[in-house]
Amino acid sequence: METFIKELKTSVPRVDALDKITGKTKYLNDIDFGNEVLYAKIVHSTKARAKILKINIPELPEGYFTVDYKDVPGKNAATMIISDWKPFAEDTVRYIGETILLIVGPDKNIVYDIAEKVKIEYQDLEPVLNIEDSKKLLGGAIYGDNNIFISFNAGYGDVDEAFKKAKTIIEETYYTPYQEHLYMEVNGAVGVWENGKVSIYSSTQCPYYVQKAASPVLGVEDVRVVAPPIGGGFGGKEHYPDILASVVAVAAHKAKKTVKLILDRQFDMAYSVKRQPAQIKTKIALDENNNITALDVVSDMDAGAYESSSRVIMQRCTYTAANVYHFPNVRVVGTLYATNNVPSCAFRGFGGPQAIFAIERTMDNIAKKINVDPIELKKKYFVKQNDPTITGGIFHDNIILPKMLDLALKESDYERKSKEYKNSMYKGIGISCFLHGCAFTGSGERDIIKAKLKLKKKGNKVTILTSNTEIGQGLHTTFRKIASYNLNIPLEDIDIAEYDTDIVPNTGPTVASRSVMIVGYLIQEASKKLKERWNESDEIEITEDYKHPTHLVDWDTNTLRGDAYPSYGLGINVVEVEIDKYTLEVKIVGVWAVFDCGYPIDEKIVEGQIKGGVAQALGWGALEKIVNKDGKFLQVKMSDYMIPTSLDLPEIKTYIMCEPYQYGPLGAKGIGEITFDGAASAYASAMENALKHHFTSIPILPENIAEVL
Ligand code: MTE
Ligand code: MOS
Repeated sequence: METFIKELKTSVPRVDALDKITGKTKYLNDIDFGNEVLYAKIVHSTKARAKILKINIPELPEGYFTVDYKDVPGKNAATMIISDWKPFAEDTVRYIGETILLIVGPDKNIVYDIAEKVKIEYQDLEPVLNIEDSKKLLGGAIYGDNNIFISFNAGYGDVDEAFKKAKTIIEETYYTPYQEHLYMEVNGAVGVWENGKVSIYSSTQCPYYVQKAASPVLGVEDVRVVAPPIGGGFGGKEHYPDILASVVAVAAHKAKKTVKLILDRQFDMAYSVKRQPAQIKTKIALDENNNITALDVVSDMDAGAYESSSRVIMQRCTYTAANVYHFPNVRVVGTLYATNNVPSCAFRGFGGPQAIFAIERTMDNIAKKINVDPIELKKKYFVKQNDPTITGGIFHDNIILPKMLDLALKESDYERKSKEYKNSMYKGIGISCFLHGCAFTGSGERDIIKAKLKLKKKGNKVTILTSNTEIGQGLHTTFRKIASYNLNIPLEDIDIAEYDTDIVPNTGPTVASRSVMIVGYLIQEASKKLKERWNESDEIEITEDYKHPTHLVDWDTNTLRGDAYPSYGLGINVVEVEIDKYTLEVKIVGVWAVFDCGYPIDEKIVEGQIKGGVAQALGWGALEKIVNKDGKFLQVKMSDYMIPTSLDLPEIKTYIMCEPYQYGPLGAKGIGEITFDGAASAYASAMENALKHHFTSIPILPENIAEVL
């Protein structure tokens, strides 16, 4: 069968679906690496902050050995954005779960047994387990001299002056919690010994990130990295794989054999990266007519023991502080703190959901205090095309929020319900309005990523060479569709090359929802060129380099001012709840999700992203709970960490609107993360409508409701 793509947005069956649902797809742990394979188990720190005094290793049977920092052939530092994260702890440990050494050997059970018997003697140091203690430098600084990894600023106008003149000031602090990614495939890496050197197979969203991190650890130029099919990432496989890959590569280097390190679910949940908890203080100035004259935001995030990508997450959080609103004066300070908690890293939304929760709750709070309709209040301050951004850039796009809002209100019957529920208890409806800056912040695409894509024609077939991975978001289908449509050849004649850094060029990481907008555009442009040259020869190779639209992302890397993003995705979410009077169990009875993601490359895939992202965000707001007790998470099993299933949610009604972006394929802007950004605040807003209480933190669980009542 031949499939010709006449209209891109018309859905086709996902190209990866059949192999995945029939179990044919081989994930990392399914690959046969031969019978010489050794297994590794991590021996980790059980202390949040301590000096290692002595490591007692039991007697090792023949063929079994340990691997620690002394075995690192290069530098014991994985390069992420900075190189602070040591793959192996040396004389001190900074968090519970930190890798101290590996036990390696041919029988997995024996390896696990030995690992259990390793005894480590520590000298305890005073751990820093939250932002407040980090600020106080409890036990002495753990990073630099102030425990601050990085601090960002944004804003314009004269905020102090506005507060001086204010008639009313409204101040509140909002808290958002950890979140576990719970991808279906756990983290893992394999150090493969081949041709007298180490290659790495990694379950990673970003093969070139693993290469960048692990090469200096091995002391080689560019280690070969292969990424097999990936069973979900959600940001959890952005940088954490760098650490696993580094340690297993050192083990393979030492053994001169292939070494496999696949985490079990409990280890993955307990010690792999999470969404960083945030506390965000907002302060609003109102004049005598109750106009908002200033917004002052102080955002603090707990990065945990190492920075990983929390730096750029803090940056996005800072720049998202004013969300879809234009206020006369704005000041934002976002600060990332080091603690002795498990390091946090990327999670769908990348700092956006934290910022949006705070500002959306703030808007609801003001509306309540000055007794106006929250929708009217929000509408009044919606940004418009050519308004300034808080980083000194401008909104270049036509902002279609009012149109989206009208649709959401109408479809959810919002006004009627919200009035009705105001006068009753236990039923509520809430809304959130939000944006998501597309792709990397600032000049990241130009200065750091510099994507380079290749198309190869051989006979009638075309192969796309990219490092952007299929992580469940449908990229293999959308990429093929873009090529097929522009080349006017059947979908079946397009292939995607294996993710092998020896084969594919670096089109950048699969993060920041950038794949379709940035790399899909390169596919579109390369396809057009290839089509023109189609009859030239049987074999043609086209290379397409990223070109920065400087007029849209005019960013000064010294002052960190200008256009932080070339374009913005937009979203409106409505959530309706009913609370059981007796059990206080919350039932989400309606969800309406309107998104502008530019042109949808495949409507079914976009719909799938919306449903998945919204459900994941409702999990964060309404169900999932992680308690961090003295640096250790109490929820480390799927039986005590509840994520929503289809039984917990009603049908999520999705509405796709399209305000195109000039440099996305047919105008696509990306949909991966914005789907997460607003649902938790809409849920909190619905709970406020139901219980007449201003909720300042999530999750909102029956026990929190009991407290309020
Ligand atoms: N969808 C699925 N099914 N699985 C995932 O792991 N990750 C999300 C989002 N949607 C994810 C997903 C995250 S965090 C990002 S950044 C984007 O997909 C990345 O893919 P894209 O660049 O193709 O949008
Ligand atoms: Mo997504 S959090 O940028 O992997």
